[in-house]
Amino acid sequence: MVGSTIRVTFEEPSHLLDKTMAFKIFTNEDKFFAEIFGVDLSTSLSSTEKADLLEAAHENAVLLFRNQNLNEEQHLNMSRQFGGLETTIQRGRKRRVKPEFADISNLDWDGTMLESDSGRAIYSSANQLWHSDASFRANPPKFSFLYAEEVVESGGETEFCDERAAWDALDPDMKEKIDGLVAWHSLMESRRRTGFLEFTDGEREAFPSVLQPIVRTHPATGRKNLFLGAHASHIENLERADGARLLDDLVEFATQECFVRSHTWSVGDLIMWDNRCVLHRGRPFNATMERRVMRRTTISGDGPIVVNGRPINELVSHGALNELI
Ligand code: OGA
Ligand code: MN
Repeated sequence: MVGSTIRVTFEEPSHLLDKTMAFKIFTNEDKFFAEIFGVDLSTSLSSTEKADLLEAAHENAVLLFRNQNLNEEQHLNMSRQFGGLETTIQRGRKRRVKPEFADISNLDWDGTMLESDSGRAIYSSANQLWHSDASFRANPPKFSFLYAEEVVESGGETEFCDERAAWDALDPDMKEKIDGLVAWHSLMESRRRTGFLEFTDGEREAFPSVLQPIVRTHPATGRKNLFLGAHASHIENLERADGARLLDDLVEFATQECFVRSHTWSVGDLIMWDNRCVLHRGRPFNATMERRVMRRTTISGDGPIVVNGRPINELVSHGALNELI
């Protein structure tokens, strides 16, 4: 379905957190997708603001900040306050933005609009599949910060799925069956789904498939969640087709309307989400007629979460205190 009917709305009274925070936070009963008021991300955050933002992010998994005004440098500085930044996959092509940014736009390196059949447009269309950013990295990232510079008139929403609530709602037999399983993730897999096949041998070598757990425990909250998405192809120790189908079934379950929030972008919106427990996807728009210009920074994870083919205990290895940098 093009365009979604699920919209983020906040219940009244919305200030649900019992603790006094350095800013105002509006959230819902399910504590997924909150809006933050009274934080200017272009200036450096106080240690209280940062600690409170992390707490809010851990609790709500997705945070929206409206009316921000961030140039590239400010976007980078703000992001660095939450950890080291990933750099982009250098595909040997000219880029519109610095390597620390994912270019989430329908523009070419020189600012002209991409043709719909260009390699770049097809490559980027994988962002419209449910995914967790860069889950194909052996050390998968924590937060993403996506900032809107130019938005479209219709379509182009971003949807977010709460993989914690989805785990909670799974049938106990299914929980038992999948807890401890690991799946193969690769960049090639999500691109294969779009029909993009132009990888060089060098790129294939640079991004080998990696194993990730299907079920994770969030190191800061101890909550369990599913960990899925378009980079995942199949499951270790299951027949390939059986594993692929199981992954599809789980994504279908997790992305039911009750676990999903949709955001319609305005210029100056910034959304921070936690890739460890959230899936997201962009929605279609008229990409040859309207410009949609966004950029994203991505915070590196604390380390691999599968070692020797087995999921590590993230709570022990990357526990809450490590997060407060
Ligand atoms: C991203 C992403 C989807 C969108 O920024 O990581 O997947 O709405 N964006 O463009
Ligand atoms: Mn993404």
